[in-house]
Amino acid sequence: MAVEITVSFTPVEFESLRQCNLSETGCVVFDVLRATSTIVTALANGAMGIKPVTEIADALSLRQQHPDALLAGERDGLRICAALTGGIEFDLGNSPREYTAEQVGGRTIIMTTTNGTRALQACQAAQQVAVGAFLNLKATVRWAAHTPMKHLILVCAGTGEEAALEDTLAAGAFCDGMVSGRPDCRLSDSAEIALRAYHHSQPNLTAALNGARNARRLLANVDLREDVKVCLRRDVHELVAVRCPDGFVRTLG
Ligand code: MLT
Repeated sequence: MAVEITVSFTPVEFESLRQCNLSETGCVVFDVLRATSTIVTALANGAMGIKPVTEIADALSLRQQHPDALLAGERDGLRICAALTGGIEFDLGNSPREYTAEQVGGRTIIMTTTNGTRALQACQAAQQVAVGAFLNLKATVRWAAHTPMKHLILVCAGTGEEAALEDTLAAGAFCDGMVSGRPDCRLSDSAEIALRAYHHSQPNLTAALNGARNARRLLANVDLREDVKVCLRRDVHELVAVRCPDGFVRTLG
């Protein structure tokens, strides 16, 4: 089955995604800095599953059903603190470096972040949803190339309400991988834009990614700057992270 790929660049498009019929559509969500990179890292380090939710209140009420779950996520890039929850400190922030095997091995995680978990929620009606990052790009391309779907939307989480360069370049790298693996796939103009941006930046991808607004914000914070390097590593995990029917993201297979 030939697949048509489109890219959704900004959070402004989340609402229309929610209203689309996605029953024959697969989505791969990118929030390279940092939510999807963190989810992939958590699973690579043995987390059982991650439930993305949009609001802090949703995370708190879900924890009542899963009392052993870790609460995770950020607002303004920082771990959610008691002042934002009426007294409950979240266990983890949104730095992949926090999600060590010791912290997350065997654990269930409930996560809310500014854009990444919103993007995952926006495509919850899709036939298939995968969590994409540079960390697991090749494995996720291989999965998409072998999974029957009519349409594939690469959903970029963005920065604020705008497009994010790092997500656009990851979507472009994904299109590049898809085109080489499946010459029958068709790129819409949005996918062509992402692919051309990726090809343009490819000779000095690290410099392009470090110049993105999100990267500059993280690099300016001494506690978070290391996250940029960690998230921009390519294909260090062979895992595919997919949304399961119960809404949890788990490692496939
Ligand atoms: C988000 O979900 O908006 C991001 O991952 C923000 C962050 O870097 O923590």
